Amino acid sequence: MVAVSDSRAFRVLVLPGDGIGPEIISQTLRVMRWFEAARGFRFEVVEGLAGGASIDATGEPITQAVVDQAVASDAVLFGAVGGPKWDALPRARRPEMGILRLRQTMDLYANLRPAVCFDELLDASAVKPELIAGLDIMIVREATAGVYFSLPRANETGPDGQRRAYDTQAYTEAEIARVCRTAFELARGRSGRVCSVDKANVMETGALWRTVATEVGAQYPDVALSHMYADNCAMQLVRRPKQFDVIVTDNLFGDILSDAAAALTGSLGLLPSASLAGLDHTGRSRALYEPIHGSAPDIAGTGKANPIGTILSFGMALRHSFNAPGAADLLEQAVRRVVASGVRTPDIAAPGVAAVSTIQMTDAVLAALDTLSPDAKR
Ligand code: IPM
Ligand code: MG
Repeated sequence: MVAVSDSRAFRVLVLPGDGIGPEIISQTLRVMRWFEAARGFRFEVVEGLAGGASIDATGEPITQAVVDQAVASDAVLFGAVGGPKWDALPRARRPEMGILRLRQTMDLYANLRPAVCFDELLDASAVKPELIAGLDIMIVREATAGVYFSLPRANETGPDGQRRAYDTQAYTEAEIARVCRTAFELARGRSGRVCSVDKANVMETGALWRTVATEVGAQYPDVALSHMYADNCAMQLVRRPKQFDVIVTDNLFGDILSDAAAALTGSLGLLPSASLAGLDHTGRSRALYEPIHGSAPDIAGTGKANPIGTILSFGMALRHSFNAPGAADLLEQAVRRVVASGVRTPDIAAPGVAAVSTIQMTDAVLAALDTLSPDAKR
């Protein structure tokens, strides 16, 4: 097992957020402490407010002070934000703005969303098991530009007295090229295929996206590049998902397609994500890690939340920010063991099967880490 030779402490800003966020984050901190005790990591953890928790305390979904801390940290571990309490607020002050502001200020342009199928949970998917057995897709979503952020945008009353609204979808070639490079780099460590997804048949941004993806692809002759229209991609994800390895796409298509891909796996509560300012692996570039699922206010405080999406998000931090692929592999292996052994939180339990709590699920992961790592001195 790989020990960490670099004993530098990593600064981790933890933003639990709302709903189940605090529960899943506190359990993930236990896993981080395991890696400190058993693998020689050192994490300097600072906690901050985001989302509704921040709105309640400060009136804003995230404060400049927290954004500054995030920029200065080696990694941000984010829980989840939002809930009915804040649903009536104007959009600019809603909890979701917290994460959007972090993405933009930290320049986290590459949002990595793996959709991995756990064999033991095949039956939890709405699609036929044989379509998704062994599924392992990586969606790379551009996350700092496009229609989410481009100007002008407005919701106003026009000169004719009619209400009208518009958004702008804009991309520069640099914005497209850098996220494509991330996708090609990732594909090199996987099965070597990138599918670039756009609407080049309809949109100017789509045409530029395709041109730039092709140009970047020429610099990666070892990676096979294909192109697909976004509507077809949605259909292919449901019909034949295993044709995909890495998908790279813009902000809005990535938002939609990554939800579809996650749902395919039947294991939403297990899926992590990483938002990166490029692939660096040394902790020198900004990064944020969060589970794919939301704040689930309906089960907050009941001990039913699945901590694995957040624990595996920390695993992605080990891989992409803490330069510790061996430790990341170990953690993924531990989670696989736990799932294979039948330990289930309610979200992944078959009807009638006894489920464990958030804490017990984490206990099982820690026990699996101990078993897989008998030399660990704890
Ligand atoms: C996501 C979410 C966010 C998005 C929301 C909460 C702003 O749906 O991370 O996919 O649209 O990007
Ligand atoms: Mg989304």
